[in-house]
Amino acid sequence: MRIYIEEDYVSMSKKAALIVASQIILNPKSVLGLATGSTPTGMYQELIEMYKSKEVDFSETTTFNLDEYYGLEREHKSSYYTYMMDVFFKYINVQKNQIHILNGKAQNVVTECLAYEELINSVGGIDLQILGIGANGHIGFNEPSKKLNVTTHLVQLTEKTIQDNSRFFDRKEDVPREAISVGIATIMKAKKIVLLASGRNKAEAIMEMTSGYVNTQVPASILQTHSDVTLIIDKEAGVLIE
Ligand code: F6R
Repeated sequence: MRIYIEEDYVSMSKKAALIVASQIILNPKSVLGLATGSTPTGMYQELIEMYKSKEVDFSETTTFNLDEYYGLEREHKSSYYTYMMDVFFKYINVQKNQIHILNGKAQNVVTECLAYEELINSVGGIDLQILGIGANGHIGFNEPSKKLNVTTHLVQLTEKTIQDNSRFFDRKEDVPREAISVGIATIMKAKKIVLLASGRNKAEAIMEMTSGYVNTQVPASILQTHSDVTLIIDKEAGVLIE
C-alpha cells in the first residue's frame, strides 16, 4: 500500500485528480469507480479544471458509482445521482449512457444488484476505483459487521453512518435507513484503488485499516490484501500513523 500524507485537503484533492487524469490519458476508455460525499468533491473540482483546460477528455470514459440511498428517487436533492450530476458530470464531457449509478427506486433490488455486477463485468471490470472511508471504516456502504457482502447488495445503514450523513439532509429523520452498495469483492476486483481521507475524524479508521490486520469491523482493512492501493490522506487523517 502506497501512503501519501498531504499537507491539507487541497493538496490531497490535487494528487487524486492527477492520478485520475493520468489513468484517462493512458487509457481514454478507462472504467472508473467513483465515490460521493465530502471527501472527493475537491478532486472533482480539480478534474473539472483540467477538463476545461483540455488536459483531460472524458468522452470515452465509463463510470460506476459505489452506492445509492435506497428509497430516494434520482431527482431527490440528497441522492448520490444528484450529487454526481451537480458536482461533476454536468461540467465534463462524459457520455450520459456511460454513467452508471444504482437506482435507489429499483422495483426489484435483487435484480438491480445482479444487473449492476454483470454490467461491471461486461466492460472488463473497474480500472481505477476511487474510495472515501467512513469514520467507522466503511467503504462504499459496506458497514462494519461480522460478515461482509461479497457483491452488490441492499444494506442497513448503521446509526453512526446515519448520524454522519445527516449533514446532507434537512433532518436526521430524512436520512434513508437503507442503501444499495457494491460489495467487498466488487471493490477488490478493481485493478487499482485510491482511497482518500481528510480530517481528524477519519484518523482512527485510517490507523485501523493500515494496522496489518484484516477486521470485518473495519471493512477498509481488507484493502491491505489488494496489490495496488494508494492512500492519499491529509495530515489530520494521518495523525495516528505518522
Ligand atoms: C460514498 C461512499 C462512502 C463515503 C464515506 C465517506 O459514495 O461510498 O463510503 O466515501 O461515507 O464520506 P465523506 O467523504 O462524506 O466523509
